[in-house]
Amino acid sequence: MIRLDKMLAHMGYGSRKEVKELIRKGFVSVDGEIVKSDDIKVDESSEIIIFDEKINYEEFVYIMLNKPADVISATYDGNLTTVLDLISGYESRNLFPIGRLDIDTLGLLILTNDGQLAHKLLSPKNHVGKKYYLKYDGKYRDDFVDIFKKGFQIDDYFTKPAIFEDLGNNEAYITICEGKFHQVKRMMEHVGCKVTYLERIQFGNIVLDNSLKRGEYRLLTKEEIESLKNN
Ligand code: URA
Repeated sequence: MIRLDKMLAHMGYGSRKEVKELIRKGFVSVDGEIVKSDDIKVDESSEIIIFDEKINYEEFVYIMLNKPADVISATYDGNLTTVLDLISGYESRNLFPIGRLDIDTLGLLILTNDGQLAHKLLSPKNHVGKKYYLKYDGKYRDDFVDIFKKGFQIDDYFTKPAIFEDLGNNEAYITICEGKFHQVKRMMEHVGCKVTYLERIQFGNIVLDNSLKRGEYRLLTKEEIESLKNN
């Protein structure tokens, strides 16, 4: 349950002060009754109507962002642009990115306020696959597939089995099921190559929507939310 005024503010009908005023003026009804008190509690099953418009309140928000370069995967930074700076209309929803992409990595990043799901998806136990498209400098060898599959030592950890798919022309897909710092770049360094372009195209069973330009975002569909939860 959530306070009516808080929910309306979450839905973008104004600041807490402004929506309290709308409630007092009788513009809002809950389950068929005009309400004048802002501290009543509502939930997703309440029928809320404001200015004759029915509200579909969802507690959790799930957004797919096509991350551009020069933006960091953080919720706040004093100097640099964050992924949250790119999202408008959800300022009061406490969104955060599920995991991180490097500042120069592009592509699929999911933002949510569903802490429990994020925790589950990021847990090393869950082995959620992340697929990247990359370009690199260096010489391709046929044993890359095997090396990535078997795993190898990078500093203090041994990489879990990963999938290397050669696309020719110094381009490849790599799918990893963990998310260590600079992992793809460091795995490519291990085989003597340098990543020059990195883009995430899939997270679990969610695929980057190609119609989103860099920096654009959209809500996940109901089907995508379901499949994200089933990862
Ligand atoms: N691997 C990297 O090296 N960087 C990323 O941003 C993601 C995976």
